[in-house]
Amino acid sequence: MEKIFSVPLKGGAMTDVYTSSLSEIAKELSSYPSALAVFDDNSLSSYGERPSVPFISIAPGEERKNWESVDQILSRAMGEGLARDSMFIGIGGGVVLDMTAFAASVYMRGARCILIPTTLLSAVDATLGGKTGIDYGGAKNAVGTFFPAEKVIISTAFLRTLPECEYRSGLGEVLKHALLSPDNDLMKFLLAKRDKVLSRDPEAVSEMIRLSLAVKISYITRDPEERKGIRSSLNLGHTFGHALESLYDYSISHGEGVAWGTVKALRAGEELGVTPSGLAADGIALFREYGFDEDRFSIPEDLLPEYLKAIGKDKKKKGGIVRFVLMEDLGKPVLTPLSDSDIEKAVMRKA
Ligand SMILES: NC(=O)c1ccc[n+]([C@@H]2O[C@H](COP(=O)([O-])OP(=O)(O)OC[C@H]3O[C@@H](n4cnc5c(N)ncnc54)[C@H](O)[C@@H]3O)[C@@H](O)[C@H]2O)c1
Repeated sequence: MEKIFSVPLKGGAMTDVYTSSLSEIAKELSSYPSALAVFDDNSLSSYGERPSVPFISIAPGEERKNWESVDQILSRAMGEGLARDSMFIGIGGGVVLDMTAFAASVYMRGARCILIPTTLLSAVDATLGGKTGIDYGGAKNAVGTFFPAEKVIISTAFLRTLPECEYRSGLGEVLKHALLSPDNDLMKFLLAKRDKVLSRDPEAVSEMIRLSLAVKISYITRDPEERKGIRSSLNLGHTFGHALESLYDYSISHGEGVAWGTVKALRAGEELGVTPSGLAADGIALFREYGFDEDRFSIPEDLLPEYLKAIGKDKKKKGGIVRFVLMEDLGKPVLTPLSDSDIEKAVMRKA
């Protein structure tokens, strides 16, 4: 295993990030005398062999991110006699990882936890920063804790079995990170290695994940308590995108929504004179290069009020005001409210 980052977090916590092969992960699992591994059915088949530690596999899907699944994890942990110094090991996409870390955080007032992401989205977005939780009362991630993993272990081998739509969902977040990066390393890499990235060449994917994580880390370490608005900038594209996802009844993937939303944020920024035209054009071209076509999703005129209502429900609003992330420059986001007419211009505008 190779350590690629040590990430300092709130309250002196630290998460070490490693890249690894599947055989090294198997070895890591057997090194814990007392542990419970948590999979979903898909990540378990992607793992490929019978885990050497006690394990539980949950049915896949966001709809299983609930108390019932956490209860299954906790009761299995209790049944296996896990103690406070035992290891909870999440091996899966963001759903499994958020629930495993949540269960670890409440078990005996906090057991140990490592996370092994098996989707691109979870590798670049759902393992660092310490947010755990479940969906509750119809709201996403409404109940949870802050509990950073001790270790995150990334293996591109898992991505071989990932369905294309899930891979693209992760790419949406990666492309967003390219705009948030103050240097243009990730942007340049994505443009130069497009074919290798799209064909999931392990070396290219590994480097893309590393560059993408470096961007996320730079935001969370500058604002570990999420108080300065710096970390909120990671929500670039999310406000426009979430409202689209909700309008389409969540039939489009999160990353697809974020990609569309980021393009709309570039358009809104350009219209308001916040985003330089060159940056907007480069950003939109990058998304197009990766097949994220903004015209694939449109807001029919009669559904605009519903779309605006969905924007108003954005759970990240402050003092009742929804703030959008716009880009003043590469790596220079700014949080700002937008009027309904600004939003309308951005989302109804044709390419
Ligand atoms: N904690 C955080 O900071 C954070 C950040 C971003 C997202 N999230 C959460 O992450 C979740 C989304 O993550 P996701 O996109 O990974 O979703 P997911 O966990 O639902 O995985 C997507 C699909 O891929 C399948 N899958 C997983 N690994 C596979 C593999 N290797 N091969 C084949 N199929 C595989 C899963 O079974 C599922 O069907 C959301 O619940 C979101 O709230 C958390």
